[in-house]
Amino acid sequence: MSDFVRIVEVGPRDGLQNEKTIIATADKIALINRLSATGLPVIEATSFVSPKWVPQLADAADVYRGITKRSGVDYPVLVPNLQGYERAREVGVSHIAVFSAASESFNRKNINASIEESLARFAPVMVRARADGVRVRGYVSTVLGCPYQGDVDVADVVRVASALHQMGCEEVSLGDTIGTGTPTKARAMLRAVAGEVPMKALAVHFHDTYGQALANILACIEEGVRVVDAAVSGTGGCPYAKGASGNVATEDAVYMLHGMGMSTGVDLDSLVDTGRWLAALLGRETSSKVTRARSPD
Ligand code: HMG
Ligand code: MG
Repeated sequence: MSDFVRIVEVGPRDGLQNEKTIIATADKIALINRLSATGLPVIEATSFVSPKWVPQLADAADVYRGITKRSGVDYPVLVPNLQGYERAREVGVSHIAVFSAASESFNRKNINASIEESLARFAPVMVRARADGVRVRGYVSTVLGCPYQGDVDVADVVRVASALHQMGCEEVSLGDTIGTGTPTKARAMLRAVAGEVPMKALAVHFHDTYGQALANILACIEEGVRVVDAAVSGTGGCPYAKGASGNVATEDAVYMLHGMGMSTGVDLDSLVDTGRWLAALLGRETSSKVTRARSPD
């Protein structure tokens, strides 16, 4: 396993979908352009879900159209169904992410479908994506706990991750949606999934609700994963997961990985500047410990 960790920046999507106020389209575009100048290789730009469900990202097409596509940077977007796929393709999207969960009750609240129904809904999306040469990532939510059913069986995580991979998702991101996971469980869950899906096709996605995200990332890095999702300034949360809060702050994940001698290609100073800029835009203190520690005052 190499010492390069690919950071997937999810702030413009996971972060902004959970903001109480609606951020101006121009500010979303400015955020993504700033992030792409930090050396981040992947920036999840927005989400083509129903605007009735997530009004915060109703301007997905304008955001995607407006960003400067830097060469070498991927800009995937969330797509829940064929309608979302078509909207995304109209503006030239070439990398999408579909999303399901290991818990039936969360999936029903989040996308109004059972797990099986959601996979069936993705099938025609995968067919179209394959024909159009569009790359597809898959998410499994609630891998370490569900806000509605509580404990989640690892076998359910393995089953859904494996189904997404077999359908053609080149990468499957394992989401601790409500941040209740702890390192030993995170490691065991990853190991179980890696028994069915190659480790190089797996990513981890930790929300920091209980302050466990960095510890969980470390455990998973030690287990062999090399793709880590994070959100600048620690924004994030799923509007349909009661109690969910921010993702691990990208600044903190990058600081830890660099400190361990691993590389990410990200310029930490420039990322910290962007995190500070975003916190000012949102009118609240950053959730990144690194950015706070480097604050001039
Ligand atoms: P539904 O209400 O069952 O869908 O929602 P529907 O097919 O009956 O459509 C209802 C209306 O929405 C219709 O409009 C459709 O046209 C429209 P109407 O006829 O009423 O005027 N519609 C759409 N419009 C635009 N784009 C679309 C689209 N689809 C339908 N793509 C649906 C089902 C999946 C659409 C809905 O539940 C939804 O959009 N859910 C998204 C929820 C969401 O975005 N959650 C957050 C992202 S997941 C997450 O954060 C977790 C993650 O970070 C990992 C982790 O942390 O675990 C990834
Ligand atoms: Mg998330």
